Amino acid sequence: MRNANEENLTDAVLAKLEGASDPRFKEIMSSLIRHLHAFIRETELTEKEWLTGIEFLTATGKKCDDKRQEYILLSDTLGVSMLVDAINHRKPGGATETTVLGPFYVRGAKDMPMWADIARRVAGEPAYVSGRVLDVNGRPIAGAVLDVWQTDGEGFYDVQRPGGNERYARGKFTTGADGRYGLRTVKPVSYPIPTDGPVGKMLLGMGRHPYRPAHVHVIATAPGYERVATHLFVEGDEYLDSDAVFGVKRSLVVDFKDHPAGPTPDGSKSAVPFCTAEFDFKLVRS
Ligand SMILES: [Fe+2]
Repeated sequence: MRNANEENLTDAVLAKLEGASDPRFKEIMSSLIRHLHAFIRETELTEKEWLTGIEFLTATGKKCDDKRQEYILLSDTLGVSMLVDAINHRKPGGATETTVLGPFYVRGAKDMPMWADIARRVAGEPAYVSGRVLDVNGRPIAGAVLDVWQTDGEGFYDVQRPGGNERYARGKFTTGADGRYGLRTVKPVSYPIPTDGPVGKMLLGMGRHPYRPAHVHVIATAPGYERVATHLFVEGDEYLDSDAVFGVKRSLVVDFKDHPAGPTPDGSKSAVPFCTAEFDFKLVRS
């Protein structure tokens, strides 16, 4: 290829894919090249802006380590994660909807019995979350596992704490024959996604806030059913309509009801006010 110019350059680069043996790789690269070139033509990107982009991506990579994933944050804040989620989890009506996994999931949470407290010694208002795991026809699913994680009452995940080695506010719960689950925790609170990196600077430049509405993360699995990675959002949260990562779905917003000190859903008593939330997960056959 000689005499590459504004008009013929895209075709010239696409032609270089002829030797690609994996058809899906070829399809993805060809689309990426076409859209990337179209973006540069549309914006008439300057050389300085091009370099700013290169430096931004470099800084994003440098911010990543075993506890921090700045590229996922970038994907989340640009709505890419939710778009991929939407395309890959087209569910029939009535099934529990999915949302972003987020960067704070840690494999290997402990198995816990019904009504175990996942947030002992953790700051926050006591909360009791319960419900059932059902199929889309409303029949209970026995042996379903809910892998749960969330922030403490100050808006921090365990892995964000200095050192980040002590695990809290995580647990796995398995349903019995009636499909029921119940757990004790603290009421989650809204929190800002990390803003000390390039993605934070990008949000600032866009005039956007970094907050996510309060939520409990859950991955629901059961043999013979599709896995669902989702959140339970707290009704009334001020960021429900402006989630920094576009993750809110109306069907996932749950009322966390306030109660004075007294009897709790696990059959004991709380000496302090607490709240309760109920949510039924509905899974689709795989
Ligand atoms: Fe989260």
